[in-house]
Amino acid sequence: MLPGIKTTKNYNVNSFSVYLQSMSKATTENTLQAIISHAKEYGFVFPSSEIYDGLSAVYDYGPYGAQLKKNIRDYWWNSMTQMNENIVGIDAAIFMHPTTWKASGHVDSFSDPLIDNKDSKKRYRVDHLIEAHAEKLIEKGAQAEAIQLLADMEALLGKDDFEGLKKLIETNKIVCSVSGTGNWTEIRQFNLMFSTELGSVAEDANTIYLRPETAQGIFVNFLNVQKTARMKIPFGIAQTGKAFRNEIVARQFIFRMREFEQMEMQFFIKPGTQKEWYEYWKNERMQWHLSLGIASDKYRFHDHVKLAHYADAALDIEYEFPFGFKEVEGIHSRTDFDLSRHQEFSKKKMQYFDTEVNQHYIPYVIETSIGLDRMFLLILSNSYEEETIVKEDGTSDSRVVLHLPAKIAPNKLAILPLTKKDGLPELAKELMSDCKKSFHCFYEEKDAIGKRYRRQDAIGTPFCVTVDHQTKEDGTVTIRHRDSMLQERIAMNKVKELVLAHIN
Ligand code: GAP
Repeated sequence: MLPGIKTTKNYNVNSFSVYLQSMSKATTENTLQAIISHAKEYGFVFPSSEIYDGLSAVYDYGPYGAQLKKNIRDYWWNSMTQMNENIVGIDAAIFMHPTTWKASGHVDSFSDPLIDNKDSKKRYRVDHLIEAHAEKLIEKGAQAEAIQLLADMEALLGKDDFEGLKKLIETNKIVCSVSGTGNWTEIRQFNLMFSTELGSVAEDANTIYLRPETAQGIFVNFLNVQKTARMKIPFGIAQTGKAFRNEIVARQFIFRMREFEQMEMQFFIKPGTQKEWYEYWKNERMQWHLSLGIASDKYRFHDHVKLAHYADAALDIEYEFPFGFKEVEGIHSRTDFDLSRHQEFSKKKMQYFDTEVNQHYIPYVIETSIGLDRMFLLILSNSYEEETIVKEDGTSDSRVVLHLPAKIAPNKLAILPLTKKDGLPELAKELMSDCKKSFHCFYEEKDAIGKRYRRQDAIGTPFCVTVDHQTKEDGTVTIRHRDSMLQERIAMNKVKELVLAHIN
């Protein structure tokens, strides 16, 4: 059972008040800014092509970031494909036949409503424009007005009522932040897919799309996988990989990017069993999040009222980021929409023969879809702490520490000889060469030991080992625990075992 995770639907007073509490502006923005600076300073995330001033909503991962991201991806991959005998993985290409996106509905429906200010020529996503106005109302203390505005917006968005939305913008006197005027165009839909051309001769080239979700690579391979891996329903296909969306308003660091990575799993089931499997995967996925040691009150479920074109039920798993509760993962009951559409467009049968009931059918699908970059930001937000340490003599000190879960931390162990001489580096390197076969270690001789500990705290290394003169005498080392900063003396040949016990 899940430990009392709350569920919300749309903007109602209760869910919105949580949003308000989490929006104590100064602190939230400072925390996000501090995380962004820390991520850059310690080699986790850099703005893309920074020497050319960066590219909006595109980021590069540095040495520790790339390793942390890989560890999150592996943790997800193993929990899906290793821990479930009925889930297999694939790695489909980013480029897909263009008809894929007609069949999936993305060519016609994958769009956001946008509005332009005629004076500044600045383009806004309608929901973001209205939400920004609601935030201003809150700052002025007009919370009831803000709640009403957001509720009206949700209702109109749910009906795709663009005229109504424009009226809402006008009656609330919402203005452009650049021109300061309310001189708006009509609201239009804008497709989020990036297109490019395949082929070198312009006339013969075909327009193709950079995939906006990895899921379609799974659907088009459904029969290949089912037959070659001899899978029986219920079974799942998992995949991780890049996805691309031309997000109009990219905000909040790596939360909303134009190039990002998804970890998706499509679970193929017998029609009519979707409700129970939806509940099953909702619980399984929340357990996965909690297994990383994140407090359950940082999470909640958000049931969708307006459903995507392919879904008969959907919810978001939301986490309380420094800027409020936001989606990190979606659980979608996608019916047989995708397979049926691919059958229709490709003219290839997408049916499964169920020997138990002696029947052909197109399976239904429950999808779990999580953004890897968003999960990365979740982990950083949850781990980052600026801590004040009161020492025994009453003086205080401070440190920035990342309380990363040990199993996904980039480095598990730092090995630090106290001095560069007296044979201590040789002993430390012996330990290093033994441990590095089992997990990522870091070796450092330079600087005072306290300084070296702080650097490891800042990148989230759960354990530091100091090799000192006593090590030469009795074969023991000092092991320091990152979170408690407690130090204990243990036999050098027990270090590997201790670290492995924590990361497995
Ligand atoms: N196949 C279903 C699908 O793609 P989605 O809700 O559009 O559903 C799933 O996306 C997840 O992908 C989201 O919960 C989020 O974590 C991540 N995601 C979506 N757009 C993103 C973006 N622009 N930047 C970063 N992550 C994104």
